[in-house]
Amino acid sequence: MSENESNDKSCLLVATFNQGKLKEIQSYLTFLPIRLLSLKIFPNVDPMVEKGKTFKENAGDKAAYYSRFTKFLTMADDSGLVVDALDGKPGVYSARYLSEQASDRDRFCQILTELKDIPDSKRTAKFECCIALAREGIVREMVQGTLEGVISREPRGKNGFGYDPIFQVVQNGPTLAELSSDEKNQISHRGQALRKMVEKLSLRVST
Ligand code: IMP
Repeated sequence: MSENESNDKSCLLVATFNQGKLKEIQSYLTFLPIRLLSLKIFPNVDPMVEKGKTFKENAGDKAAYYSRFTKFLTMADDSGLVVDALDGKPGVYSARYLSEQASDRDRFCQILTELKDIPDSKRTAKFECCIALAREGIVREMVQGTLEGVISREPRGKNGFGYDPIFQVVQNGPTLAELSSDEKNQISHRGQALRKMVEKLSLRVST
């Protein structure tokens, strides 16, 4: 990528290695007159180590870091599951819960084990998502979304990613993994944040 291309207002780097997130983010941005870039075309950029204590801090750090190294307008998402009965765990450690090597299934099964003796009325949780936009190492925009719900008793559904199979928006309702991607996007934490970010991006590309 040349210096000129990196100054091009119509290019946006979506800075995530998570394929589930990438798919959801891309589905919102395809309607904008923007060329989407992925981290795959920057094999020399090392993944950033997340050190923040909040989703907002991590989203801002990631967007600033990747925009500094790639010189492109960069969007980064930090998100996770916050379980009330586990004092907010796994929170910002959602992607690393148990260990970096654990699978999504290992992680959601661990949550179900930890909640084994917790009654239905105390299985409340939420998904949070912060999305930051940065250029030249400086955060320019920050948006967020929250989806409240309840942790199921067993995993259900094959769609989505991460903790979707154990997250129900209402008690005994479908899990997010039982919804279609359109149904999930309409209500999800990421869908809410992306709608706000798309508004901000539309203004940027039209001015
Ligand atoms: P991050 O890459 O540090 O933001 O980690 C986000 C992690 O939170 C993901 O790897 C998932 O485990 C979890 N997560 C975030 N959003 C969702 C979602 O929409 N569905 C299911 N799990 C999610």
